[in-house]
Amino acid sequence: MTETISFPQDRTCPYHPPTNYRPLRESGPLSHVALYDGRRIWAVTGHTEARALLVDGRLSADRQNPAFPITLERFEAVRRVRTPLIGVDDPEHNTQRRMLIPSFSVKRTIALRPQIQRIVDELLDRMLAQGPPAELVSAFALPVPSMVICLLLGVPYADHEFFEERSHRLLRGRSAEESEEARLELEGYLAGLIATKERTPGDGLLDELITERLRTGSLRHEELVRLAMVLLVAGHETTANMISLGTFTLLEHPDQLAQLKADDHLIPTAVEELLRFLSIADGMLRVATDDIEIAGRTIRAGDGVMFSTSMINRDEAAYPAPDELDLDRSARHHVAFGFGVHQCLGQNLARAEMEIALRSLFRRIPDLRLAVPAAEIPFKPGHTLQGMIELPLAW
Ligand code: HEM
Repeated sequence: MTETISFPQDRTCPYHPPTNYRPLRESGPLSHVALYDGRRIWAVTGHTEARALLVDGRLSADRQNPAFPITLERFEAVRRVRTPLIGVDDPEHNTQRRMLIPSFSVKRTIALRPQIQRIVDELLDRMLAQGPPAELVSAFALPVPSMVICLLLGVPYADHEFFEERSHRLLRGRSAEESEEARLELEGYLAGLIATKERTPGDGLLDELITERLRTGSLRHEELVRLAMVLLVAGHETTANMISLGTFTLLEHPDQLAQLKADDHLIPTAVEELLRFLSIADGMLRVATDDIEIAGRTIRAGDGVMFSTSMINRDEAAYPAPDELDLDRSARHHVAFGFGVHQCLGQNLARAEMEIALRSLFRRIPDLRLAVPAAEIPFKPGHTLQGMIELPLAW
């Protein structure tokens, strides 16, 4: 019997899945990986099977289920709290999701576009005024989504250093205690902000939820605080990584970038392909609550299941020449935003941010280049969202 591949592992190239995952592709749409504690869970890598399983109500996202798989010892802390949306099943999930859908609709996002463009333009003005070199993550990739989610929620951007640092520790703290401490600090901050807003209403989604849900008793205080935390953290960390890693990847594929610069109508298609190719949220987790037959295998009740988005999005049956970045291809149906009831709530917003940020960046600074050799640029470890830690650029 061959050795089970451990999960997660670090990437060797920031835009390719870890080379050690390759055997997973060869062993069929479903195989196994081993977690830090030796537990074996299912690894789904087939595109068809992933989309069938992600809509299967027998797979649960409830992290408080003792059988829910945990990928690092320090993530054990997530079991202690009930995480709204991403960590609950229907009907609770559906109630929370329906409450938020209007704020993340295509229509709402279109209305936000001019404000996103203004944020992007101002940050680029500043970057250009300061002159090369620039560090893209801190100067652009992180502030864009951070400012946008603040605007949408009604969180003061002046507090960004506080919540960015806590989100960072929450997702990447060195120990369970450190992550837990960051969570409590963020919760404390948001509870305070919500209390202030209850006295002096402002203009944002949190204010709407206070008026329409908290005051009417259909949402509890604690639930609103946790919901705000999920939206704030998910709203900036993810897109920031896509902007930094997307820029790095385009600079490393000059032919593709030239095509994009020549015709920026390609941007929406290019963003979909970058989402597929980069699969920054690699490893969605679930636990089976009942036996499931699929692809000739049986997932038993209590089994852990991991969806490797980087493998699913490079399934040859769904995407010819999957390891090639091809900005012209139709990458529709990728699972970079997940699939099924938990499919990313912020996907319309994320797409708008990525389109506006990448289009404006390469339009305003057409001769953008890496300031140091690619191999010297640090990128994130495998147990977290993938992206660049820093991105030094020149022009
Ligand atoms: C390019 C950027 C983004 C990527 C790649 C991404 C990826 C994902 C993925 C893969 C999931 C599904 C997780 C699962 O099924 O276990 C998800 C869910 C979610 N995302 Fe995003 N996301 C991005 C941006 C955003 C933004 C801007 C927001 C804004 C608030 C957001 C909010 C959420 C929420 C609330 C969920 C949970 C939805 C639910 O459980 O119903 N995401 N995201």
